[in-house]
Amino acid sequence: MRKKVTIMGAGNVGASCAQRIAERGYADVVLVDIIEGLPQGKALDMLQSGPVVSSDARLTGTNSYEETADSDIAVITSGVPRKPGMSRDDLLLTNMEIIKGVTENVVRYSPNCIIIVVTNPLDAMAQLALHVSRFPRNRVIGMSGILDTTRFRTFLAMELDVSVEDVYAVVLGGHGDTMVPIPRLATVGGIPITELLPPQVIERIVERTIKGGGEIVSLLKAGSAYYAPAAAVAQMVDSIILDKKRILPCAAYLEGEYGIEGLFVGVPVKLGARGIEQIMEIRLTPEEDAALKKSAEAVRELIQVMKLG
Ligand code: NAI
Ligand code: 2OP
Repeated sequence: MRKKVTIMGAGNVGASCAQRIAERGYADVVLVDIIEGLPQGKALDMLQSGPVVSSDARLTGTNSYEETADSDIAVITSGVPRKPGMSRDDLLLTNMEIIKGVTENVVRYSPNCIIIVVTNPLDAMAQLALHVSRFPRNRVIGMSGILDTTRFRTFLAMELDVSVEDVYAVVLGGHGDTMVPIPRLATVGGIPITELLPPQVIERIVERTIKGGGEIVSLLKAGSAYYAPAAAVAQMVDSIILDKKRILPCAAYLEGEYGIEGLFVGVPVKLGARGIEQIMEIRLTPEEDAALKKSAEAVRELIQVMKLG
């Protein structure tokens, strides 16, 4: 029997996730949205690509939750994206109401699922989903770090004219302007980038990475990035469904790791069938540690606005 992945929100990110996951063929996909006809139409369209892409995955679009019952994974993308000039944090009050209701329904119909939160502001919405679901922390994960690191990796590969496959990078912290790319740990074919690029070039790439989401928002003028975010979600789903135990940067609820207590922050984790199976701790320099703590404080401010802690 195939696994079942529900995707809440059939907008740009949700639909792109559904397509990428359905094309893998290992899971059936249920797409849920409040707009009548939207998830049904998109799911039917994707279903009809099955014979061409050789996937037998069943896709269902719905405006209710019955069809989501007993999902293995629920990906939450429902909510509004930002417009030019807005920060991710400006979405807090609108999206927290949406995430609360959606999480309650996810839990009612799939009490054993693993939740992957995508909606922004990411770390705060993941914390809200953890709070509402009362799931153990290994079963609520935020998608952010894979997106931030894939941007860092892309820009490094472009600068050095090398394959993206050979570039590895680490980004820690909240998914916002305080995120913490760690150039010291970025490598190309195992060679530290600090040996390959001058500091000012690395600084420029780090800046572009931090502002990567905003760069796309200003170009699109309506909505935010979705192709790379959906690819990132699909990589997380692969690691969980196939129990690959990949080490991937994700937002995880920290209980003392990195000296941070009771907050979702982006860190490397081991993702497997049980969700987050291990939080990987990296020894940081004092500067990196200070930047991570500053980023965590930015997340904490949003948590306080939501009155979660
Ligand atoms: P979108 O506007 O294209 O799609 C959102 C969908 O959610 C819409 O179809 C809307 O009808 C639906 N929706 C709203 N309330 C709902 C509810 N109660 N139940 C089910 N569906 C509901 O937006 P897009 O581009 O897909 O982005 C979605 C969210 O993901 C935004 O908050 C965005 O900021 C965030 N995002 C986060 C990323 C990350 O790295 N964590 C990356 C990309 C987007
Ligand atoms: C991004 O970084 C929208 O948060 C999303 O593109």
